[in-house]
Amino acid sequence: LTGRPIFTDLKPPAPKLSDIEASKRLAAWTAVDRHVLREHKVIGIGSGSTVPYVVERIIAQGREANKDRVFIPTGFQSKELIVSGQLLLGDVDQYPRIDVTIDGADEVDKDLNCIKGGGACHLREKVLAEAADTFVVVADYRKNSDVLGHNYSAGVPVEVAPFAYAKVLQNLHVLGSPKAALRMAVKKAGPVVSDNGNFVIDAPFPEELMLDPYSILTKIKMLTGVVEVGLFCHMAKAAYFGNQDGSVTVKW
Ligand code: 5RP
Repeated sequence: LTGRPIFTDLKPPAPKLSDIEASKRLAAWTAVDRHVLREHKVIGIGSGSTVPYVVERIIAQGREANKDRVFIPTGFQSKELIVSGQLLLGDVDQYPRIDVTIDGADEVDKDLNCIKGGGACHLREKVLAEAADTFVVVADYRKNSDVLGHNYSAGVPVEVAPFAYAKVLQNLHVLGSPKAALRMAVKKAGPVVSDNGNFVIDAPFPEELMLDPYSILTKIKMLTGVVEVGLFCHMAKAAYFGNQDGSVTVKW
């Protein structure tokens, strides 16, 4: 795998975490230490299970560092993290320019293209990534790939207007994803509904198409009814992956 391993002396404290949780925390802490600088006042907070460690480390920077900062969430979960961490909550319509956004990813390729949207938050995540001067990704070692689709077989998340989902499903089948399917809630009680009231389709594409994620992204975005695609191409400035041996792989 490409990337430069660095070793850190960050020691996640007790309680002892599983390998995977420790890796997420290591990536998150390292990224915060490198990218959330004293002068940064507007900070975007992503979604998923790695992001709580981002917020944990930002809180550890202390009250003084955080007192005149505002934090912009990508969804319900990150809003809760910001509020429960007693950080100042803002919105992207107040702060359309963000200093740095840190977020998780489902998979990251050698060129820092990402699959995101495992938590159905990729529309807001992409807005905050694009609004940021610096967009940084944090993840555990399982997300580090050369080619998208190797580690994350669920495919590309596509947020769709509910009215259009059946038509978009058909379009995705024709575009080369015959197994594209509507994401269902646990126990298949009904479709997953995003924070924006939309449905999500998961569209796995074969490797030959995933070699050019930007081309797939543009084709899917052209489909009427598609709200946003969980392919983040040419957006991340750096990606940090915590490893089992306590090192962090950095791609930039
Ligand atoms: C949510 C996302 C998440 O950032 C992505 O699914 C990674 O989550 P985790 O940190 O739990 O692995 O894109 O829409």
